[in-house]
Amino acid sequence: MAVIALKCPGIKVSVVDINQARIAAWNSEDLEQLPVYEPGLKEVVAEARGRNLFFSTNIEKAIDEAQMIFMAVNTPTKTYGEGKGFAADLTYVEQCARQIAEVATSDKIVVEKSTLPVRTAEKVKEVLHSNKKGINFEVLSNPEFLAEGTAIQDLFKSDRVLVGGEETPSGQEALATLVSIYENWIPRKKILTTNVWSSELSKLASNAMLAQRISSINSLSALCEKTGADIGEVAKAIGMDSRIGPKFLKASVGFGGSCFQKDILNLVYLCKHYGLDEVAEYWHQVVKINDYQKNRFAKKIISGLNGTVNQKKITLLGWAFKANTNDSRESAAIYVADVLLEEGAEVHVYDPMVKKERIHQDLTTLWESKQFSSSAIISKLERCQVHSQYTPALKDSFAAAILTEWEEFSSYDWEAIAEKMMQPAKIFDGRNVIELNRKFNQYFIGR
Ligand code: UGA
Repeated sequence: MAVIALKCPGIKVSVVDINQARIAAWNSEDLEQLPVYEPGLKEVVAEARGRNLFFSTNIEKAIDEAQMIFMAVNTPTKTYGEGKGFAADLTYVEQCARQIAEVATSDKIVVEKSTLPVRTAEKVKEVLHSNKKGINFEVLSNPEFLAEGTAIQDLFKSDRVLVGGEETPSGQEALATLVSIYENWIPRKKILTTNVWSSELSKLASNAMLAQRISSINSLSALCEKTGADIGEVAKAIGMDSRIGPKFLKASVGFGGSCFQKDILNLVYLCKHYGLDEVAEYWHQVVKINDYQKNRFAKKIISGLNGTVNQKKITLLGWAFKANTNDSRESAAIYVADVLLEEGAEVHVYDPMVKKERIHQDLTTLWESKQFSSSAIISKLERCQVHSQYTPALKDSFAAAILTEWEEFSSYDWEAIAEKMMQPAKIFDGRNVIELNRKFNQYFIGR
């Protein structure tokens, strides 16, 4: 939304949320306090905020004034009822649509920005048209393809913008209105228009295909470790085939983030819902391999430490699910830490952007989902210390494990670090970012 405001000074963009603290942070004078860390974001906010970009908790006023409303609410994986653990929870989408229907006094274009199951627009439309005020709503699908850490650049130079609309004259008119907004900075040939269902499915399918590449390369990394092949070399050889391409072939400790797992599980649920069990199983395997990879890495640390980590200090470098973000949702680090803590390790964490509160909250949420008692959670958290500097985090450690590919990790003086660790020092590189050095023990992914 901030980028739309930046690129279209003639359009007033109001971002509304019920969370007062979050809106206050978006309005903060100190741009370091913005709730999201994203390179380039603060510059965009600095330019547009107060000019044509506004952050507020006055949702009703914003709905009433708007001609176009983007619904960008959370659609987490359901934790209850039918589809638990797979389907997208549409509670917030429905609440949002209901509020629009209640408050609106004029026709609106409602844009689905959240990632949603196919045919959600139908449900949104039904809710919107439950108003008895004779107001017309056009529902468009406009999924977001940005990746965290590169979000602003992705938005400035999108590979494509996808807009799905109904094939009725009013649907096509709404679609043209949204296209005209993007045309302010995206070349028309990169703006793809489709029907609503194709647009909704394309978002899930894109994420599923990207994640599938990672699971494919990660599955091969296990085979590389057994055979003496090197996954970096294999990925390079595969990726030089122009039909395959080099991107998203980086073997890792496993993909994280708020989207890949959630979207694939949602896709799996949809396939099952339509009786496509084989298709569902095919995609489910992408998530299963990812779980296997995270677990495999944790087990590699344990077996590298003679089969036990009990009472041993282990240092995790990186908590974010990828570099250049403070987001740790579904980060592999959470699962690796969980296994190590379960095995009795003293886990020490350093991440340049993720704070202690977040790290402890991530673990608490995981353990609550496993129904651990609060006393068990508290005592486990005592064994998870978070540092704001990497040197104390690593001192006297039995092992260091790199879980996020933060650039600074590759520039450390690893020889000096290894000397300050318990001997023999062991470095488990879950991102293959540090150079080979025979002076200490190194364990990589896929070689
Ligand atoms: C992903 C997609 O890339 C975006 O196109 C999409 O819009 C977004 O989800 C979304 O649906 O919101 P994001 O999750 O922000 O973006 O980040 P990615 O760069 O895709 O990385 C996801 C995970 O895969 C990270 O943990 C990353 O470290 C891992 N990864 C990525 C690998 O392990 N290997 C790779 O080669 C690439």
